Amino acid sequence: MEEQQAPIRPVQITDLGRWKAEGRHFAMLTAYDYTTASWLDRAGIPVLLVGDSLGGTMLGHQLRDGGPDTLPVTLDEIIHHARAVARGARRALLVGDLPFLSYHLGLDDATRSAGRMLKEAGMQAVKLEGGGPMVEVVAHLVERGIPVMAHLGLTPQSVHAMGGLRVQGRDEQGAGRIRSALSAMEQAGAFAVVLEGMPSKLAAELTAGTHLPTIGIGAGPGCDGQVLVVHDMLGLTVGALPKFVKPFASLGKEIVAAARHFQREVEAGSYPDAEHSYG
Ligand code: KIV
Repeated sequence: MEEQQAPIRPVQITDLGRWKAEGRHFAMLTAYDYTTASWLDRAGIPVLLVGDSLGGTMLGHQLRDGGPDTLPVTLDEIIHHARAVARGARRALLVGDLPFLSYHLGLDDATRSAGRMLKEAGMQAVKLEGGGPMVEVVAHLVERGIPVMAHLGLTPQSVHAMGGLRVQGRDEQGAGRIRSALSAMEQAGAFAVVLEGMPSKLAAELTAGTHLPTIGIGAGPGCDGQVLVVHDMLGLTVGALPKFVKPFASLGKEIVAAARHFQREVEAGSYPDAEHSYG
């Protein structure tokens, strides 16, 4: 008989607003493949983001100063990874990141890209970076039934415009720009917002002043939720980590130890032994 899987209530975008109202903090992690998504979903992580950070973590794109580069990532690449994540996650809310130049060329272009995330990749929502002209894009997508997570502060797709991956909103002018963008995104109908790379005080003030659930990364403890790149969280990242990252495991070191152990046994002729061979 086939094993029956227990019914699961999938996380909905409206749950995030409810958690904020209840003062309940929540976690989001990135995922780029079936296996990782399956484990994170079993762990109960309620929101998984197929981020364009896959440019660094999965594809090895680097900025000239060595930081991860998201600019080369294409919509087809995100969709390829998102389809695998959707096969692995049964409960988590799945958010697909719109990569650079997939929503900048006009409203129809943005609708086509975002629509593909839902239609082809099995995502339930999209995320896009920036305020200003992106407010109109968000309103347009939301009116067409596509839930949008906004992303303000340090927006890595604007790395060259920002003069590097730098903390934003340190001065009053910069903070004011983020405040106005957040209020415009709320008006436009975004269901949540990522606040990246900004002083903790500003992120806490923004969180207290909006109905949108805020999800911080390098934005201190005052946000409603927190997100990390899964490779950073697991200690898998090759190279330096930003100050805000806390690795909760050391999987990179574990991989090296396991690979060396395997190699030693193969070279010594002790693997495979009788237990791992067919009679
Ligand atoms: O691409 C990504 O992973 C992101 C998160 C870090 C928020 O945008």
